[in-house]
Amino acid sequence: MSNQELTPLFNLDAMTQKVANSNGLTGQDILSVDQFDRDNLSFIFDRAREMREMVQRVGSADLLKGYVLACLFYEPSTRTSSSFIAAMERLGGSVIPITQGVQFSSVSKGETLADTVRTLEQYADAIVLRHPEIGSAKLAADYASVPVLNAGDGPGEHPTQALLDLFTIREELGRVDGLKVAMVGDLRYGRTVQSLTKLLLHFDVSLRFVSPEILRLPLTTMNHVIDAGVDVRETHDVADVIKNADVLYVTRVQKERFSDLAQYEEVKNYYEITTELLEKAKDKMVVMHPLPRVGEIHYNVDKDPRAAYFRQVQNGMYIRMALLAAVLGRA
Ligand code: NCD
Repeated sequence: MSNQELTPLFNLDAMTQKVANSNGLTGQDILSVDQFDRDNLSFIFDRAREMREMVQRVGSADLLKGYVLACLFYEPSTRTSSSFIAAMERLGGSVIPITQGVQFSSVSKGETLADTVRTLEQYADAIVLRHPEIGSAKLAADYASVPVLNAGDGPGEHPTQALLDLFTIREELGRVDGLKVAMVGDLRYGRTVQSLTKLLLHFDVSLRFVSPEILRLPLTTMNHVIDAGVDVRETHDVADVIKNADVLYVTRVQKERFSDLAQYEEVKNYYEITTELLEKAKDKMVVMHPLPRVGEIHYNVDKDPRAAYFRQVQNGMYIRMALLAAVLGRA
């Protein structure tokens, strides 16, 4: 990039240089939060803050000009797909959006994920994939030579969401160490819960898992929590945790993962966060939700300054800008 293209407000060369040394993330797939430690988390968060500043000052940059991202979504999405697209476009790149339903792609003719991915990599420098099966992103990455970013593999992981969730906690409360985080709702099928829980284990946190019996945190994730030796407790009752929580992370019951819809009906309205409940919470607590919500948080709560879920949405774009820049880093 020539110096003539630099905006006086923003030193893109310096930024590119930093991204090029991007803590080992250049050229990497982003499949699981297991790839992150405090070091590369703080690298990504610093870059996300720079992205925020850049967007607020000038709206867009040319950092990824000429780069193409393929967005391949086999499951519905609003925020994840739009924020990846916005992230790429705000960095001057462009997108092949297969996000309006793979029924309009050759997937509906029976094409395998492997072949679809091997096709898209002929056009694109990276692929974002959302797919209903656990392990699908890993499978795609095994076939693709360009980086694959997991945008949700069934009830498995959602690493980019967990990064934006953790970033939101850090930005809202100024720290992560020492916080009490309560996760509420569908802890069994919620992939954001699995990923965020594992990320939080890099910090000195207390964890409270609040769910109906059939939606308890899976053992695979709970074993990570136990191995990390953090203070942890499970309960069915959100009133048990509300007084002490610093973060209330609320989730939707994942209807699409139930094989027995009668079971879904039993638990779908188990929790509703209301303004009355929040009267018992700390003044500085934050209410988060990966969204979409389908009744878990009453609309009245939106006016409460502690409701952080739309700020969380905005953070998603900055985090994805930082990740794309890191993964596509131009050495
Ligand atoms: C989440 C997901 O897809 O896992 N949504 C998102 O990416 N923001 C949560 C959900 O669907 O409930």
